[in-house]
Amino acid sequence: MSEHFYAENSEAPKTDYDLSLRPPDFSEFAGQEKVKERLILMVEAAKQRNDALDHVLLSGPPGLGKTTLAYILAQEFGSEMHCTSGPQIEKAGDLAGILTNLKHGDFLFIDEIHRLHPAIEEYLYPAMEDYRLDIIIDQGPSARSIQLTLPRFTLVGATTRAGMLTAPLRSRFGMANRLDYYPAEVLQKILIRSAALIDITIEAEGALEIARRSRGTPRIANLLLRWTRDYAQVKADNIITSPVADAALKMREIDADGLDETDVRLLESIIYKFGGGPVGLKSLAVAVGEDESTIEEVYEPYLIMQGYLNRTHRGRVAMPAAYARLGAEPPQELQKDLPL
Ligand SMILES: Nc1ncnc2c1ncn2[C@@H]1O[C@H](COP(=O)(O)OP(=O)(O)O)[C@@H](O)[C@H]1O
Ligand SMILES: [Mg+2]
Repeated sequence: MSEHFYAENSEAPKTDYDLSLRPPDFSEFAGQEKVKERLILMVEAAKQRNDALDHVLLSGPPGLGKTTLAYILAQEFGSEMHCTSGPQIEKAGDLAGILTNLKHGDFLFIDEIHRLHPAIEEYLYPAMEDYRLDIIIDQGPSARSIQLTLPRFTLVGATTRAGMLTAPLRSRFGMANRLDYYPAEVLQKILIRSAALIDITIEAEGALEIARRSRGTPRIANLLLRWTRDYAQVKADNIITSPVADAALKMREIDADGLDETDVRLLESIIYKFGGGPVGLKSLAVAVGEDESTIEEVYEPYLIMQGYLNRTHRGRVAMPAAYARLGAEPPQELQKDLPL
């Protein structure tokens, strides 16, 4: 167990800790029942036909299990997994290198597939559809065209932005699967499993307390568990009870509804700096000192789901729940929407 790693960033790369907690198969992958059911059916059908699995698209905010599912799928077929990501494939030659390395039945995982260069996407179409690659390499007089037949492989694409995928690319996936935020009871189960793996005693109530404050996200739940474990070890007899979890999370300024410091800063900005909105993403990003895409892909989806924020064509608008959360007075036109 890596005792020295303290990740703050929910998008931190895979660590030993992450890997050790990653469910190895469907039976240990909690929640996302609809997606799981569909994938299990696809796997079974392909296995019965002795065929490669159809290409799979997984979308949803960071930390919900896209990479984990990709590994589970490859594991179901006992296949080798090759991993890359959209921005890593810079030239057609990079893609050709990856594709020609595949063996029959291998899995290719392309993370952040919405960030693939459009020119490279076009090479991917025939590769996905007909297992064929026609590429031109080099430029000028040394340019030459190569045609290659590829082995049957399965592409698993992951994206935080399904809406940014081009229609032709999306249509080449057998099935698109959207992962949703996890309800607290499912995160609670995940936490109880993780606690056993890292050898810390946790009470069901303690797990639920962490679960409620994890923004519906298993990766965050596991990170908070790790923090709470440290806290329990130093301050509380090594047992995570509900009050221990509460004290540990308070120390990290994670409040009872799971909003973290950036969430709160976003809401404060919209309400106090931009009069409640609508405010454009660019201005908002500058005001809170965050990356536009991080706001859009990581923070907003949760705030929208929880009813704090709305995206309109004129910009972001704070909803009554956001005013209530900050103890601010909502403007007249919003007040009529407040529940009685
Ligand atoms: N359904 C799940 N059940 C148990 N643990 C999960 C589940 N989904 C994700 N995790 C945990 O959360 C971590 C992040 O998941 P990951 O697959 O890397 O998310 P993504 O690729 O969507 O960003 C994993 O290491 C795993 O431990
Ligand atoms: Mg991932």
